[in-house]
Amino acid sequence: MCGIVGYTGTRQAYPVILKGLKRLEYRGYDSSGVALLKDGKLNVYKKKGKVADLEETMIGKVLDAHVGIGHTRWATHGEPSDRNAHPHSSASGKLAMIHNGIIENYALIKQELLNKGYTFTSDTDTEVLLNFIEDIQKNNNSTLEEALRIALKRVSGAYCILLIEQDNPDTIIAARKGSPLVIGIGKGEHFLASDASPIIEYTKEVVYVNDYELAIVKPDELILKNLGNEKITPYITKLDMELAAIEKGGYDHFMLKEIFEQPSTIFDCLRGRLDAKEGTIRMSGIDHNIDQLMNANRIMILACGTSWHAGLAAEYIIEELCRIPVEVEYASEFRYRNPIVNKGDVIIAISQSGETADTLVALEKAKENGAFIFGVVNAVGSSIARISNAGAYTHAGPEIGVASTKAFTGQLAVLMMMALSIAKHKGTVSHERYHSLLLELEEVPEKINAILKNASALKVIAEKYKGASDFLFLGRGYNFPIALEGALKLKEISYIHAEGYPAAEMKHGPIALVDENLPVVFIATKDAYHEKIVSNMQEIKARKGKIISIITEGDTTSTELSNDYFAIPPADELIAPILTVIPLQLLSYYVGTAKGVDVDKPRNLAKSVTVE
Ligand code: M6R
Repeated sequence: MCGIVGYTGTRQAYPVILKGLKRLEYRGYDSSGVALLKDGKLNVYKKKGKVADLEETMIGKVLDAHVGIGHTRWATHGEPSDRNAHPHSSASGKLAMIHNGIIENYALIKQELLNKGYTFTSDTDTEVLLNFIEDIQKNNNSTLEEALRIALKRVSGAYCILLIEQDNPDTIIAARKGSPLVIGIGKGEHFLASDASPIIEYTKEVVYVNDYELAIVKPDELILKNLGNEKITPYITKLDMELAAIEKGGYDHFMLKEIFEQPSTIFDCLRGRLDAKEGTIRMSGIDHNIDQLMNANRIMILACGTSWHAGLAAEYIIEELCRIPVEVEYASEFRYRNPIVNKGDVIIAISQSGETADTLVALEKAKENGAFIFGVVNAVGSSIARISNAGAYTHAGPEIGVASTKAFTGQLAVLMMMALSIAKHKGTVSHERYHSLLLELEEVPEKINAILKNASALKVIAEKYKGASDFLFLGRGYNFPIALEGALKLKEISYIHAEGYPAAEMKHGPIALVDENLPVVFIATKDAYHEKIVSNMQEIKARKGKIISIITEGDTTSTELSNDYFAIPPADELIAPILTVIPLQLLSYYVGTAKGVDVDKPRNLAKSVTVE
């Protein structure tokens, strides 16, 4: 959460930073700000609201500077407001700092500083850390870099910080632990950011800074050090990303663009890996570790949010195909309890961003206990990808819309290939079933295309139900996780209360909610549970609930029971979730936009949750 950008070089810093902030706005958007350094003068500008609000306040200001830092905030300590916005200035006004993360022991440090007579202008942990650094600098008569190193040894929590100093005209000092930082290397210039999207336009050469590393960045020089002041050789990697991938490309919203990208993202995910004709799946992360994976005593899946839903679907699929016990845990719960993790356990970590703090910390804990970590990650080079022992990328490309769509279907595709690969090696899947599932997987992009062609039908349904105050999403078996995902999507981007439930559980409580005002979305494709789910639809109809169903083409029983329905092409029940989720993504998109919600930046959310 929070996006940070920094620039030092020969260009005007402000336009680079502003554009970068717009690209990073998905990480937080309740306030933003910039600090510009010119001729020994530090100017800080900040504003509550979106980056566009900041931009407006900057009109007419003299913004000439070649060094600067900028921040777009997702509030943790202190409400969204001008005074809590970053950058923060130190007590002397000589330092400015931006921060992504949480300083957990800030209260203790703040008290120490209060005792020394410091006062604070914001409620943030960031201002505390900044004054702490300045206090050390003053007392020890040390450089900013030394003071920062000392301060960081005392703080607990997560941070990525960028600091500039009045007396240090072209330098940005950065440090990270737990929150991401990428440095782009240009000719006589450097770019710093939370991810590569603000950098890609200028250079493809980047360095991913690791935890407990400090970067001293000047136009012509990048020095990396650890907290022990030892130099580290920067490892330069080439970005495999095009500018077009992070632009809207004619769509009204990133979310819609990303929904419509799914035929090609799934194609890219399967390409070079799955060959249905040959009957092969080649994934180096799996092939090189197949013994470990197929002999796992147990598989534990750790993830949050939508990625957790992909994990739940994977539980059903892996247990069915591989006959290995699977447990799916919210990473945010796992990290705080005393879970049993043994050698021989395999942990699958699922994450779009690869930076989710809860998942990252849970993995560190599991690794300490000797578990083997397999990462299913979208963001290449991210922290979760790097902490994993092995893994497979989803190859969905940058996902900018806060609501996860194409990353989710990519996760399902990777997990399906993983399950099939393990099952084949273990001999727990028949030859015929294996081959038919491979063929079905290969057909997914085409089937998604067919669904997307009818997107306008979902717009009509959305218009009809946009006024509802609650929704229920019901599914059984492989489609139960999709019911949860449908409900989460709707909540996120339309602010309508929605619950996802296994359809059979409905009678144990949620059925009390049903009346003529409640839309109930059934995921009722033709599978082993079909007759059962039709009975559940009857139960809702008998209580006058409004039924919207996602059905298989040609299923007349369900259409008769439904007030509205959307048909998808027939598919094997294990593959169906990759398809049934698409109409639900579109439904929530159209309800959200019909209600006037900024679906790419829904309130209170951020794309990458790098705080607890
Ligand atoms: O980047 P991750 O997949 O680790 O993120 C996990 C969740 O924060 C994320 O899926 C969240 O629930 C999305 N807003 C869902 O649309």
